[in-house]
Amino acid sequence: MRVIALLMAAGSGSRFGAERPKQYLTLAGRPILRHAAEALLTDGGVNALLPVVAGPAEGQEAEAVLAGLPCLRAVQGGATRQASVRAGLEALASAPPDVVLVHDAARPFLPAGTVPALLRALEEFPGAIPAQPVSDTLKAGAEGRILRTVPRAGLFRAQTPQAFRFAPLLDAHRAAREEATDDAALLEAAGLPVALLPGSESNLKVTYPEDLARAEASLLPRLL
Ligand code: CTP
Ligand code: MG
Repeated sequence: MRVIALLMAAGSGSRFGAERPKQYLTLAGRPILRHAAEALLTDGGVNALLPVVAGPAEGQEAEAVLAGLPCLRAVQGGATRQASVRAGLEALASAPPDVVLVHDAARPFLPAGTVPALLRALEEFPGAIPAQPVSDTLKAGAEGRILRTVPRAGLFRAQTPQAFRFAPLLDAHRAAREEATDDAALLEAAGLPVALLPGSESNLKVTYPEDLARAEASLLPRLL
């Protein structure tokens, strides 16, 4: 079984607000993108990475950051995450893998066992994702006022890597009419079942500067 992992790194990091996209910033001496790549590969089951990047200059940078790892030539992404994933999938379409993983380059820590669990789930489901139960109380609001409390039972925060059999994910992307914020949503829209596996609080996505501070703090015990 051939498994390729798309490493999604074509975003600009606007919410983070640094001079460079956050995936190229350093965490414990190495770019976040490198952490994400090594974590994916050491978990087992992934044959090669396909970096999806903003443009040719970033492609060279990503390939340098990923030097020594099994890695295909970087592909240029698009204006939205969905367009970037589509570009990665289309680049693979002429020699399709059996399975594709889609992972945020902005997630430096992947708990051990995540990828094998996702691959096992694909024996039964066309797609599988890790997700964490929502722990905060949820409010619907507008103009600075609460409208109502939303029951959080049965609600989850989707994480990556998300795993899919290649053909149904490519079909779902080609058929997509609306913008989705993750790939599972496109399978859902196509009426296909997606397995929900336990996620992890340690699998954080660096979105704001405080997330990088949290990531660094969580590494401290390992460095001491
Ligand atoms: N991503 C991508 N192509 C895009 C947008 C996002 O490949 N057009 C990638 C990002 O590089 C990131 C992952 O998708 O690794 C998750 O997206 P997000 O956290 O939203 O990153 P950004 O879009 O870069 O950040 P922001 O939304 O704050 O601008
Ligand atoms: Mg974004």
